[in-house]
Amino acid sequence: MDASDGYAVVVDEVVKTFGGLRALDGVSLRVKRGEVYGLLGPNGAGKTTLIRSLIGMIVPDSGTVTVLGKRMPNVAILARIGYMTQAAALYPDLSVQENVGFFAAINGAEANVEEAMRLVELYDRRSSVVATLSGGLRTRASLACAVVHHPDLLLLDEPTVGVDPLLRMQLWDQFKEMAARGTSIVVSSHVMDEAERCDRLGLIRFGRLLAEGSVAELKAKAGVERLEDAFLKLAEVKDR
Ligand SMILES: Nc1ncnc2c1ncn2[C@@H]1O[C@H](COP(=O)(O)OP(=O)(O)O)[C@@H](O)[C@H]1O
Ligand SMILES: [Mg+2]
Repeated sequence: MDASDGYAVVVDEVVKTFGGLRALDGVSLRVKRGEVYGLLGPNGAGKTTLIRSLIGMIVPDSGTVTVLGKRMPNVAILARIGYMTQAAALYPDLSVQENVGFFAAINGAEANVEEAMRLVELYDRRSSVVATLSGGLRTRASLACAVVHHPDLLLLDEPTVGVDPLLRMQLWDQFKEMAARGTSIVVSSHVMDEAERCDRLGLIRFGRLLAEGSVAELKAKAGVERLEDAFLKLAEVKDR
């Protein structure tokens, strides 16, 4: 047994500075296997920096990040992680199928391409060149690329920015389905109705994790009915 058993992610006292700025100021959190963990916080809170540290793209100044039992950065573990960046990262001049196929080929998962396109309901649009797709369809294509290799950990950095409300809810249904099948998910958001769908939430601001718990726990802790009020109350920071 080690401390990361049962956890997809263990972040311990992570500090990351850019120049004089503490983008992450001593963050510790744990994500259980099969859990949807939401990072909720305003722009500049440190959400993207934290997610990048989980994939090993950012190496902390101090503290440790352990993903799927391995201390990060660790190139070997990347094949078990799916990562969807804030800006849908696709080759605009390739079709949906070619994009998903490319990510699949990197991970030896060519057999899953059709399934991934069906999952995001893009199978009928598989021959469309990405540059011709709407933002919402691009987001879906990007998700297909992130999950085509059946990752054990899925990192979603504001996956629904610019996506209409209906599709947003559909995407969330898919995230929940993946989690039910055992995929651990870390998802950042600043949208409250999305945050409500996470199993657990970390409220992050100024690079600090200011409160953590289920939606019900956070509301109870703050003594309020609405998650946005809980956020305002629990994520209030006086110094900085
Ligand atoms: N590569 C970088 N160089 C300098 N500053 C950065 C860099 N990445 C992030 N920051 C700064 O760190 C802080 C946290 O950024 P970020 O993690 O992107 O927040 P969020 O995703 O919550 O909006 C911001 O003040 C941002 O300007
Ligand atoms: Mg961000």
